Amino acid sequence: MSEIGVDLGARSYTVHVGRGQLQSLPDLLEELRGRRFVVVTNRRVFGLHGRNLERGLRHLGRVARVLVPDGERYKSRTTLAAVHDAFVDAGLGRDAVVVAFGGGVIGDLAGFAAATYMRGVDLVQIPTTLLAMVDSSVGGKVGINHPRAKNLIGAFHQPRAVVADPAVLVTLPPRELRSGAYEILKCGILGDRGLFRAMQEAPQGLVGWNEAAIAEAIAGACRLKAAIVGKDEREAGLRRLLNLGHTLGHALETVTRYRCFTHGEAVGWGLIAAAAIAQRKQLLRPAVARAIVAATERIGPRPGVDALGLDPILAALGHDKKAKQGRVPFILPTAIGRVTLRFDVTRADVRHALSAMAARRSGAVT
Ligand code: NAD
Ligand code: GLY
Repeated sequence: MSEIGVDLGARSYTVHVGRGQLQSLPDLLEELRGRRFVVVTNRRVFGLHGRNLERGLRHLGRVARVLVPDGERYKSRTTLAAVHDAFVDAGLGRDAVVVAFGGGVIGDLAGFAAATYMRGVDLVQIPTTLLAMVDSSVGGKVGINHPRAKNLIGAFHQPRAVVADPAVLVTLPPRELRSGAYEILKCGILGDRGLFRAMQEAPQGLVGWNEAAIAEAIAGACRLKAAIVGKDEREAGLRRLLNLGHTLGHALETVTRYRCFTHGEAVGWGLIAAAAIAQRKQLLRPAVARAIVAATERIGPRPGVDALGLDPILAALGHDKKAKQGRVPFILPTAIGRVTLRFDVTRADVRHALSAMAARRSGAVT
């Protein structure tokens, strides 16, 4: 079991990672005893693991439940309004504790509902996808999509605790497991050589990846993220490094209207693109670029990019909400464990990255 502190003064909290943590909720959340809990989740996650969760919470206080539809398109203003309505109907007051129980969609949506209900009530993140365990549940970014842009409406609202129990991942489809693994690899590339090595050594396609190794990788990624968030909660500088692979990843998601790639798969492609661009700019040795590509491919196949044109991707890059005066920020690796922020990535660099990506294996995704 790992306990990782996110050091943010009065808003500090612990990320608990380990098998069986869901059973330990009454101990882990003891300081919230006597409060009103409201679990926000979807039918799928609730059906698989919800009773286990609520049994633990009932030792601490009264528990209400809000079910929302499953899917990125429901990380919306409409669903947010429905969640707020359910909070009002349940008579929740300022002592409410919102428990986000699901993947990143639930974490972001429920987290934003918690941030905005009565000017902010307490939040506990209980992530159930690998991606949510290693990324979205930690760091306090919460929000919903606007019809014209992803994550456009949001807030920073740190949870009181994060509880990641890898036992729930047994029911996760392999594609979603791989999706989270690309984010773990990202953490290795940007700041943890040991984590990078661990991902290089994970089984091909993650088939038979054992729970102890997964738990260790989750803890490693959370440690890195916690250290960064502890120094730069509001993304004034350092936290931007976590966007390695995301600039191009977001563009891929945008041009395919979020219907083709999972978030992690898009980041996986973004890692390959970042390695190709860094090598082209002579920031990264070819052997290291090859190692990054090989580690990404090892995680498994992603839907292909061959059919996507350069112009729509460039247009989508221009709309990245982090673009400053038309200059698109790219995080590029300079070694394993080191990255740099650049604003000089040109159209030709992106074209080069796309041909490097098109040359890579992609394939049937299950
Ligand atoms: P998701 O939340 O859509 O979950 C993927 C699918 O897995 C869903 O169908 C879900 O119901 C299902 N699922 C969840 N847990 C399961 C389990 N244990 N067993 C079986 N099925 C399960 O997707 P995601 O990849 O977890 O999250 C993506 C979202 O996270 C995006 O909206 C993205 O913008 C957001 N995100 C936020 C941050 C942040 O810092 N806030 C960081 C990264 C990503
Ligand atoms: N996922 C990037 C961040 O939390 O800053």
